[in-house]
Amino acid sequence: MKDVVGVVLAGGYGTRLLPLTLTTNKHLLPVYNKHMILYPIDTLVRAGITEILVITGRDKRGASMAGQFIDLLGGDDKDRLGELLGRKIENKVNFHYKLQEQAGGIAQAIGMTERFVGNANFFAILGDNIAQDDVSQKVKEFANAESEAHIFLKHMPDEKMFEVVKGERRAKYGVAELAGDKIKGIEEKPFRPKSSYAVTGLYMYTSDVFGVAKTLKPSWRGELEVSDLNDYYAQKGRLGYTILNDLWLDLGVDHDSMLDGALEVRKMLQSTRP
Ligand code: G1P
Repeated sequence: MKDVVGVVLAGGYGTRLLPLTLTTNKHLLPVYNKHMILYPIDTLVRAGITEILVITGRDKRGASMAGQFIDLLGGDDKDRLGELLGRKIENKVNFHYKLQEQAGGIAQAIGMTERFVGNANFFAILGDNIAQDDVSQKVKEFANAESEAHIFLKHMPDEKMFEVVKGERRAKYGVAELAGDKIKGIEEKPFRPKSSYAVTGLYMYTSDVFGVAKTLKPSWRGELEVSDLNDYYAQKGRLGYTILNDLWLDLGVDHDSMLDGALEVRKMLQSTRP
């Protein structure tokens, strides 16, 4: 069985979190007792992934953020990672780093992982997502997948699904249209979502995704959209899904999402303490 490798996407300017992001990358900001990026890293480590590429970028003035991530995570020090995550780590985890020169979107960052990923299958996770579910079984099942993709969805009640931007009510997330055990289509932040299942920032791909990424065109926000990548597989009937049942949060939306996230983490820690 091939090993699934991991990718954490931690680029972007973090504009919605200004002025905090004037001096640091969004994913290094604290969320209760950890740096934001440690939550998605924890999801990968719990799923048994031991090779992790961290993609980060430059700030608006052009300064590379990579050094700060290297200072935090290091190379392959198990004790250090254990200290950061607050628990004992079973296997050694190797961290690798790459710089995304411009904030060109999630799909652009995924395209940049080609050299690292090679022919493996991989799990890409957004550096601002907390996902508490144990996804290790799904990762094992995906290890031998060929030419397909698998994403993770979260059911959202209306009050969490929508936001009002410039007087218009639209979904805050990518939204999936389901058809049995496959996804029929994905739309990015639609006005009229076709389901109440939000696309989370957890994605699994096979290496043919790199060919697909090269065909994408920038969206209205000037980015290569991960929803377009996923929709390609949906249209081919090759996009599987899993619904997350435990806590899932997109921490990096704005100051409120960081505060709500911190309170949820505190609640979770209090409930698991003896
Ligand atoms: C991104 C994706 C969106 C997804 C969300 C999950 O949104 O584009 O499809 O639902 O992450 O966190 P963004 O954070 O770029 O607005």
